[in-house]
Amino acid sequence: MKLLVTGGAGFIGSHFINHRLANHSQDSIINLDNLTYAASLVNLQQVMESPRYKFIKGDISSMALIEEVMQGVDVVVHFAAETHVDRSILDPWPFIQSNIVGTYTLLEVAKKMKVKRFHHISTDEVFGSLELQSNEKFNENTLYSPRSPYSATKAGSDHLVRAYYHTYGLPVTISNCSNNFGPAMYPEKLIPLAITSALENKKIPIHGDGKNERDWLFVEDHISAIELILEEGKIGETYLVGGLKNGVSNVDIVKKILKILKKDEDLIKFVDDRPGNDRKYDIDWSKINKQLGWEPKYNLDKALELTIEWYKKNVDWWKKIKEGEFKEYYEKQFGKSDL
Ligand code: NAD
Ligand code: DAU
Repeated sequence: MKLLVTGGAGFIGSHFINHRLANHSQDSIINLDNLTYAASLVNLQQVMESPRYKFIKGDISSMALIEEVMQGVDVVVHFAAETHVDRSILDPWPFIQSNIVGTYTLLEVAKKMKVKRFHHISTDEVFGSLELQSNEKFNENTLYSPRSPYSATKAGSDHLVRAYYHTYGLPVTISNCSNNFGPAMYPEKLIPLAITSALENKKIPIHGDGKNERDWLFVEDHISAIELILEEGKIGETYLVGGLKNGVSNVDIVKKILKILKKDEDLIKFVDDRPGNDRKYDIDWSKINKQLGWEPKYNLDKALELTIEWYKKNVDWWKKIKEGEFKEYYEKQFGKSDL
């Protein structure tokens, strides 16, 4: 099978490619990625020389390029996106361009080329925010209510994907998952930022009162869900993917990280809240569990330890990132104080 993976040089896409090539000896993969600040080809070193792997640097919103790249492709797995909420607040435009125009371009060509499957990777952020005290969870029937420029563009892309299924019969599937974490995640997101800052004995910025909750999902569990959907998912269906219920707040997650690293909680610094910061995400993943037999395998503590181990062993990787473009962004976001 020939797959086109978009955004395969990013965090989750690179885990998918490594896993797919290692476990499906008949598959070949084209990785199309325009190498934004968030990309890292280092994550793909183990497949770089494989005759079954090809990297193409390019933008998903370039129709001519996509028409060339999608020739003979059976399955598209679409990860490429601008993904960081705080950056979408600073400047929504790249999100509109990549997440909406880029997804439209891929769909248009996929329709023309009659691909056998278009799998769209999306997020639980499209459903908006839950109350902290509520027992409600997001499920496949939850109405869309995105609240940040990032989630609004992901919602737009989900709607387009469904429109191509209903209107043109494009064989699509969609997965909306919760917050991933794991090795090789760009250190602008909460968990890798906390780990790398703690390792440098630098302050860790926590937005608002730190009580917001996320439904943490280890990246390997996300990959196993995507694999199952590709194998057994029903065309036209959406599947929600989440972690093992933990109800851990942002500040608790950071405290867990500091405890594992034997660092002082003084490193925590409360900063102004993110505008529109969603209070809570919680996923009901019973549909994918009942229909495809998926469940997460990693509990939060074990997965955090594995992740921290990776950042301890790969200091060069994240130090290089933090000294580059990241620094400029970080100062714009948090100022040049002691952070
Ligand atoms: P990431 O930011 O680490 O990587 C995104 C990749 O897409 C980068 O390599 C970037 O260069 C590439 N890209 C961006 N715009 C592009 C364009 N116009 N053309 C070609 N390539 C482009 O993101 P990630 O965390 O790996 O997320 C992957 C997907 O999963 C995204 O669609 C995201 O919305 C979704 N998702 C992520 C999470 C999470 O917690 N990280 C949770 C839910 C859903
Ligand atoms: O839910 C899935 C989403 O998870 C994905 O769709 C997004 O691509 C991904 O970035 C992530 O979004 P979040 O906004 O939830 O993740 P982030 O790590 O940026 O923030 C998690 C929480 O931590 C949020 O409440 C804001 C807070 N936070 C974040 C950062 C970066 C802090 O307190 N301090 C920080 O420095």
